Amino acid sequence: MYVAVMGCGIVGSGVVRLISKNREGIKKRRMTDLEVKHILDIRDFPDSPFAELFTKDFNDILGDDDVKVVVETMGGLHPAFEYVSACLKAGKSVVSSNKLLVSQKGYELLQLAKDNNVNFLFEASVAGGIPIIRPIVQCLAANEVEEIAGILNGTTNFILTKMIVEKMSFADALALAQKNGYAEADPTADIEGLDACRKICILASIAFGSHVYPESVYTEGITSISESDVAYANDMGAVIKLIANAKKISDDKIEIATAPAIIFRGSQLAGVSDEYNAVLVRGDAIGDVVFYGKGAGRFATASAVVADVADCAIHLERRKYFGWDEAKENYVSDYGKHQQKFMVRVETDDAGAVRKVFGDVRVLNRENAPENEFAFVTPVMSLDEVKRELASLPVTIGNIIRITDY
Ligand code: HSE
Repeated sequence: MYVAVMGCGIVGSGVVRLISKNREGIKKRRMTDLEVKHILDIRDFPDSPFAELFTKDFNDILGDDDVKVVVETMGGLHPAFEYVSACLKAGKSVVSSNKLLVSQKGYELLQLAKDNNVNFLFEASVAGGIPIIRPIVQCLAANEVEEIAGILNGTTNFILTKMIVEKMSFADALALAQKNGYAEADPTADIEGLDACRKICILASIAFGSHVYPESVYTEGITSISESDVAYANDMGAVIKLIANAKKISDDKIEIATAPAIIFRGSQLAGVSDEYNAVLVRGDAIGDVVFYGKGAGRFATASAVVADVADCAIHLERRKYFGWDEAKENYVSDYGKHQQKFMVRVETDDAGAVRKVFGDVRVLNRENAPENEFAFVTPVMSLDEVKRELASLPVTIGNIIRITDY
């Protein structure tokens, strides 16, 4: 079975090498013989052992009837969307690792795959090598998924781990993440939560049946997290993680958000350290099930891509039916109204006034806190209410971080 790979960056080059390295094993395990015939990239790779496979012309892939499965590991929306659409229309199945593409165009591309009786698979687009899409679609198919919560970004989890374990500042931890090659030179999509948001949108679309666009989701990154927040969380027996979560309220309403969250140390998610990812799925039959592993990296991500390629190769004549509906209006509830507890850190000379408004709150402590710093846990209330109450008080807000029960 001939395969083409579009985009030979970290993941694409991993796919080419993995297919070559494990070809015999894949043949035995999945009874399909995969061979890469073309690699599309605008760059030159004269020293690559696969140098003769490279092309700069997309039509070499589109026009080659021997190529039945195309891998898209280019990243970005354009021209990935145009190339993937053209391949599906030409009767080729496509496997993508591109979360931006799937979160923005997943509904459209799945429809296109259906119309052309081919497959569009994207296991690698969420949590890299961790199997999560297929388990939700297939293994947990008997469940109504009630909720999904994940640590879906390795870069931010690495940074937060360094802040928690080694008491590093955010800036130092980010610099280390960049030095180690986890964070991009421009780490905005990671640290501002956009990458994790795209992934939870894909999972919510699959689990709850309607497309969720990242623009409709409350998204907050980790740039506001300070060493003092980490210390106050520790006082609660908890850690701070960037959590992307989605919860079904009804067929017409979901709660979904990407934001830092306080996670108690007893939680499975609290122990997910460094660049690792984890996804907790809460089903009505299974209860909680947690998937853990490497959410990024060359071979971890290629592992998921190549498994999808094998699946496409095996199902050439049979479409794997899965998909979701177009986005519904008013489907995503207003995050400001979600009911939850919060950890609040303020500067004030009148902690008594704060306690009068918020009631009998749990007060938090940390070493070397300035005199005028006051941190506490609110009762269950909405973020809008917390902000409204704080606006009426003589305080400067340091941070407001939600507390979860995962
Ligand atoms: N930048 C992403 C991360 C890579 O840090 O998890 C995988 O999507």
